[in-house]
Amino acid sequence: MKTIGKVKILSNREIVPQIYEMILLSKELTIEGFPGKFVNLYCEDGRHLLPRPISICEINREEATTRLIYAVVGEGTKKLSKMQANDEVKVLGPLGNGFTIDGKTRENIVIGGGIGAPPLVELVKHLKGNTSVYLGFRCNPILVEDFENLGAKVYVATEDGSHGHKGNVLQLLEKDDLKADMIYSCGPKPMLKAVAQWAKEKQIPAELSLEERMACGIGACLVCTCKAAKKEANDWENTRVCKDGPVFLRDEVIW
Ligand code: FES
Repeated sequence: MKTIGKVKILSNREIVPQIYEMILLSKELTIEGFPGKFVNLYCEDGRHLLPRPISICEINREEATTRLIYAVVGEGTKKLSKMQANDEVKVLGPLGNGFTIDGKTRENIVIGGGIGAPPLVELVKHLKGNTSVYLGFRCNPILVEDFENLGAKVYVATEDGSHGHKGNVLQLLEKDDLKADMIYSCGPKPMLKAVAQWAKEKQIPAELSLEERMACGIGACLVCTCKAAKKEANDWENTRVCKDGPVFLRDEVIW
């Protein structure tokens, strides 16, 4: 069952330039919320009809709150950023298929790029074993403390060198001879492609959450279609990131 309706906003604030945190109050959302799933937020001003897909950053079932972190990238998200505490926003979700949580104890490597970092917070809460988080940003890192507070070791790269390693997150990974049982990642496609290649070379299984342009978010419009490998060798099929993903296995996506 999906929540469709107006949800109360508890707070909506800018945490670094152009990146906002919105806290929603809805028991239904938290019941079905899961690491890697996303919600569609609707901007209802008559001009911006398409929903904005925003990944779930954190779920607090006791307080019935869902934390979203989103970037202002156009008119729709700009309008969202203007909403205030006690306003109501129309929500559809949670949508999509999230990460696999099987309760096994592992050495985990978690890799986030830019606005791909937020859904990894709820994921890290559920991982057992040792978790190292590698985060890459252009500038202005986000959520570093959140991951540290969850007990993860956190390594940061920024393109402008203002925080941590100067460069991208892949360079950071390659600096050490890392070993892990499982990799989880979310971020822009070029980064995920490089992570998939790196994981394959190291023979480490990985789950990758794709950021893809979306419209309906429920599998109806095919805007988010990408190529996925079929089980039979050397064949592929179209898959919908919103409905079949956004999380895919390392070798499922054809880049
Ligand atoms: Fe419409 Fe995925 S966004 S099918």
